[in-house]
Amino acid sequence: MSIEQRPLGRTGADVSVVGLGTWQLGGDWGDVSSEGAAGVLDAALDAGVTLLDTADVYGDGRSEERIRQALVTRAQRPFVATKAGRRADPFVAETYTPENLRAWVDRSRRNLGVDTLDLVQLHCPPPPVYSDQRVYDTLDAFVADGSIAAYGVSVETVAEGLTALEHEGVQSIQVILNVLRRKPLEELLPAAAKAQVGILARVPLASGLLTGKYDESTTFAADDHRNFNRNGEAFDVGETFSGVPYDVGLAAAREVAEIAPEGVTTAAFALRWVIDQPGVTSVIPGARSVEQVRGNVAAATLAPLTTDQLTALERVYDERIRAHVHDRW
Ligand SMILES: NC(=O)c1ccc[n+]([C@@H]2O[C@H](COP(=O)([O-])OP(=O)(O)OC[C@H]3O[C@@H](n4cnc5c(N)ncnc54)[C@H](OP(=O)(O)O)[C@@H]3O)[C@@H](O)[C@H]2O)c1
Repeated sequence: MSIEQRPLGRTGADVSVVGLGTWQLGGDWGDVSSEGAAGVLDAALDAGVTLLDTADVYGDGRSEERIRQALVTRAQRPFVATKAGRRADPFVAETYTPENLRAWVDRSRRNLGVDTLDLVQLHCPPPPVYSDQRVYDTLDAFVADGSIAAYGVSVETVAEGLTALEHEGVQSIQVILNVLRRKPLEELLPAAAKAQVGILARVPLASGLLTGKYDESTTFAADDHRNFNRNGEAFDVGETFSGVPYDVGLAAAREVAEIAPEGVTTAAFALRWVIDQPGVTSVIPGARSVEQVRGNVAAATLAPLTTDQLTALERVYDERIRAHVHDRW
């Protein structure tokens, strides 16, 4: 199968407009067995997905290792974007030393079984790191020595993304973008497009809220961040339900479900919205089952949203969501 491909910044690589986020295949989302993870990866690759997003800390390397195993028998390799920076204290800028970065990158190369990583993204480091020239010099040296082909950043805030764009070696920005998180549309996406920097849109389903499948009685496992990080206890609360309070998100998701046309799942509708935002390279929904993967890939062939649908979604954001998130990230 083939999915629309778009160039990822100036890397020279083309990636599918729907990728696969693989945080779920490492940890923090309840248990996913090795067989389950292999099934998810195979389903994505068989459906034409050519972009996998992972990180060295997802399950302490388990996500990267499962990707390596899934690719052993594949003739065609997808583009694998990993991340580095959260193995030492992620809240302390001083840990982003050349030595630590070297060790993290080399460990990902071993986990993924490659000499050259396709893309390393700084994994939501403390804000000072985005303007630390020594960090970019280190990453440039890794490109020069062939241990990575390209680097980018994963950010929490629009401001961090704009700072990263000032550094010409940056090839991609990963940011939360979904119908409940619209601020990147204002400045970040136009600036990235102008600089020919790729945008990877993460948390596109607001951690599953935008599937419309949860309600007030839904519970999440103890080892699922949607339980243990509900108030930002472990990491930035923006990563959990996009930082939208759960009850507010439920009400918004119900409205989004009503706006979605007959015969189109709310998830695919929400993903299509992301795909069509100017400047977006690829949307990277996470999935825990083969059915979820297939449902998400379907977004790649949906028609663009109508003007009425776009207006209705904007109203949901303005009336229910904006006050909770817009000025924070
Ligand atoms: N700091 C960072 O750089 C960072 C942070 C967060 C995420 N990410 C990356 O971005 C990726 C995507 O974000 P995310 O996984 O946090 O959030 P997401 O993609 O918004 O939500 C994923 C969840 O949505 C549900 N889902 C997905 N597809 C579905 C479908 N077709 N039908 C029904 N339910 C569906 C599943 O929930 P259930 O588990 O309830 O089934 C799944 O676990 C991650 O996997 C990771 O690669 C990076």
